[in-house]
Amino acid sequence: VDVEVLWTVDSTNSELLRRPAPAHGTTRVLLAERQTGGRGRRGRPWASPLAAHLYMSLVRGFDGGLARLGGLSLVTGIAVVEALHVLGVGQAGLKWPNDVVVESGGVLHKLGGLLVEGGGEHAGPVRAVVGLGLNVRMPAVQGAELDQPWTDLASLLGAGVDRNRVAAVVLDHVLPALAQFDADGLAPFLQRYAALDVLAGRDVMLHDAQGGCREAQVQGLAADGALRVRLGDGRSEDLYSGEVSVRRR
Ligand code: BTN
Repeated sequence: VDVEVLWTVDSTNSELLRRPAPAHGTTRVLLAERQTGGRGRRGRPWASPLAAHLYMSLVRGFDGGLARLGGLSLVTGIAVVEALHVLGVGQAGLKWPNDVVVESGGVLHKLGGLLVEGGGEHAGPVRAVVGLGLNVRMPAVQGAELDQPWTDLASLLGAGVDRNRVAAVVLDHVLPALAQFDADGLAPFLQRYAALDVLAGRDVMLHDAQGGCREAQVQGLAADGALRVRLGDGRSEDLYSGEVSVRRR
């Protein structure tokens, strides 16, 4: 696999989206030591100070249209969390749809996040870019500015945590997962997801893009990657987008 490391870039996702798509079935990887315009989900900035964290994007061509992208973020998230378990972060879990979290004291602390972007048609080939930001050593000034509980690998594994090894173990898990998703879809990942799911059975708030919110209880993942919830009136609903926050027990 082709792995490239840049000193600085606006965003590893943006850079891969600017480049020509790789041949179908091949994956390219781009890392940067810092990003000047790192992006999170929902248009939020993703602060990316020099050599503090892991900023990585992968690009791959898939068949099957844009509908594949939702599953792709789950599959990558599963592989990243499994890699973290191998690295010694046994408490790492996945918060639908693409947050890597560690629970402590009943509170979910964000360790990283995924941003999947793509280009293509509703049917046919798509180029998918998967970006991963993983907190490695949170600088005090940055940590103080974050608006949600967070953690980093230095607190979980010790200050000596090696970013290169983290990147290598993550790739060892993500690359085969992408190939398997390409061949077999989401089905082989559903059980793996269930083992990492931090939301199953929990009371949550659902936030929609218009600013509305509803109470619900999470039932689990539907076969197509949607989040299945039970609403206050007992009805079930499958969510394909949106934000979920956990209500305190
Ligand atoms: C989120 O949780 O909101 C997703 C964060 C994704 C951040 C990564 S860092 C590497 C890649 N390049 C970007 O600009 N964003 C992703």
